[in-house]
Amino acid sequence: MARRQTERLLQGLPKDVFFAAMERQQVSLTYDDVRLRSGESNLMPAEVDLETRFSRNVPLRIPIVSAAMDTVTEDTLAIALAQLGGLGIIHRGLSAEEQASQVVRVKYHLNGRIEKPICVQETDPIEQILMRRDERRFRFHTFPVLNGEGKLTGILTENDFDFCEDTKLLAREVMTRDPITVSSADGLTVQTAYDKMMELKKKVLPVIDELGIVVGLYIFSDVKARVKGSTAGYNLDNRGQLRVGAAIGTSPSDLERAQRLVEKNVDVLVIDTAHGDSAPVYSMLRELKRIYESVDIVVGNVSEPQSARRLLNAGADGIKVGQGPGSICTTRIVAGIGCPQVTAIYECSKALRGSDVPICADGGLKHPGDIPIALGAGAYSVMMGSMLAATHEAPGEIIHHEGRQWKGYRGMGSEGAMKDSAASRERYRQAEGKTLVPEGVEAMVPYKGPLAPVIAQYIGGLRAGMGYVGAANIDELQRIANFRRLTGAGIAESHVHDVTMIKEPANYKKR
Ligand code: XMP
Repeated sequence: MARRQTERLLQGLPKDVFFAAMERQQVSLTYDDVRLRSGESNLMPAEVDLETRFSRNVPLRIPIVSAAMDTVTEDTLAIALAQLGGLGIIHRGLSAEEQASQVVRVKYHLNGRIEKPICVQETDPIEQILMRRDERRFRFHTFPVLNGEGKLTGILTENDFDFCEDTKLLAREVMTRDPITVSSADGLTVQTAYDKMMELKKKVLPVIDELGIVVGLYIFSDVKARVKGSTAGYNLDNRGQLRVGAAIGTSPSDLERAQRLVEKNVDVLVIDTAHGDSAPVYSMLRELKRIYESVDIVVGNVSEPQSARRLLNAGADGIKVGQGPGSICTTRIVAGIGCPQVTAIYECSKALRGSDVPICADGGLKHPGDIPIALGAGAYSVMMGSMLAATHEAPGEIIHHEGRQWKGYRGMGSEGAMKDSAASRERYRQAEGKTLVPEGVEAMVPYKGPLAPVIAQYIGGLRAGMGYVGAANIDELQRIANFRRLTGAGIAESHVHDVTMIKEPANYKKR
């Protein structure tokens, strides 16, 4: 990938001419200002390859990442999105402990092999185990049971809980005793674990070391899903667990937050600020790179090419571009800064050509067609807030208002978010107890139902766009994309016009 990028740097790309002309006129553009030029194509949309990266070492099966916002990404959405091939970034408005637990829940959702299974003690009452399970919002019911020496003596499964009428009983009175185990020395793979479970007709297979300590656990449904390929489109790490990212800030306590997250195997840390090209961000980035060599650090947000270059030189593994394009953002209006998003993506990605650091285009996407535009301009992925906040899996209840269903969606720089969370105040560099200067609003978005069909529409639009352009993969889209500038009449022509729509399709809303 890095070599291809170097070649691009030397050659110049078709879109360079378009953007150079815009620059000469001192015009900066955003999504509604442009459309991709279609080109000769012998591709069917279904054939295009959507594999890409969020950061140097964190791949995506589809180029969609969910925003680190308290009305967008918690564990439920992160699980659903990773199962569709994308990535969720769990927001940092949570306590460090809760954020790390959410990472654990994503990681434990689907397992080839659970490396550190959650165990219970023989003497734990069932009611206490159930209470802890609820508190920590675990969805599974399988727990290895340990004696006072930490050795495995039994297993609690969903059956044991279902048939237990008296929850005051202790784990050892309810558990299945002396479960069949395998030794860590056997070196099982997911396939051999599956074969063994089929042979033994066992749904749970603990792995123990030579001292009888539990060092792993296979769950049949997960192992089967992996072996039979039903996880084919999932975004999985090398252990077979769903990938997940988490946002952190720049305060001293964020180092501890980062440590907790890394201990729980988070795939990527995102230094999540409104101004990525700033002193606290550089010190946090340098410190994290010094401590964690093997965890990718994505940094944001910036919108100027020099800022992207400085972050690259400081060691960022991915850069988020977008200052003020977001649906709930008022930064551009309140602070008077920012660059329209398509020009920002283009210029920042141009500044990074020749490196292997990808750009994520964060915020401002309104329609599925904005995704191929962002990628064509140079992004490797898009981060979405409003386009995902209305899904069933996003945090928050459905709101009933004027006969329609909605979900709440608020900027992390809104008054409400800043009042509720120190992390939000820090994101916008505001001190507690001082007058808050919001850079976002609190809003609501029409409820869209489950995530999967919503993402299917976004991906369908992207595939169609790549088919029109003739790009077989995202690398090629970035290389051959070229743009036309729209006028107001062009935008009006692009939308539904001169008719009264009687039925809204799933992927288009009346303006
Ligand atoms: P969309 O357009 O997808 O934007 O809803 C989501 C992105 O907006 C950023 N964000 C904010 N920007 N004030 C801002 O200026 C805010 O209060 C705010 N909250 C979120 C963030 O980058 C997110 O991914």
